Amino acid sequence: MAEAERTFVMVKPDGVQRGLIGEIVSRFEDRGLKLIAGKFMRIDDELAREHYAEHVDKPFFDDLSSFITSGPVFAMVWEGQDAIAQVRTMMGETDPAESAPGTIRGDFGLDLGRNVIHGSDTEEGSAEREIGLFFDEAELHDYERIDETWLY
Ligand code: TYD
Ligand code: MG
Repeated sequence: MAEAERTFVMVKPDGVQRGLIGEIVSRFEDRGLKLIAGKFMRIDDELAREHYAEHVDKPFFDDLSSFITSGPVFAMVWEGQDAIAQVRTMMGETDPAESAPGTIRGDFGLDLGRNVIHGSDTEEGSAEREIGLFFDEAELHDYERIDETWLY
């Protein structure tokens, strides 16, 4: 494998309420990505501001913040070759209406404000920053998947 990469992924409150955690986890597992951390939790206002720091001054931030804090989320870290970009491709576009069928947002969403999943963007340092906001180092687990030698 080229360098293993880690990305932060989260099933948003709408995905949790709609029973999509298992489906979403399955897609990444089937792809060959390795789950190295997972946490069922509630985001508070402060964490919402930190996580979405680049959006705090945007007109949609208040709606985004109340949505992301409205119920539990399932936060995860996935690891694998080119994991950050591959997860973004599997998610689809920010707006589910513009997302191709076969992508997570294209298969499970219709509305921009309710787009089921978060995944770190490909900007340098984004994934690392988000992983650090949600997880301690001790919560990131190192192990070998049984199919690893055939994936790479
Ligand atoms: P963004 O980081 O641009 O999208 P992505 O989740 O694909 O990285 O925006 C963060 C979230 O904010 C996005 O998932 C949905 C919400 N959002 C809106 O509600 N309205 C908007 O106009 C935009 C751009 C985003
Ligand atoms: Mg983003």
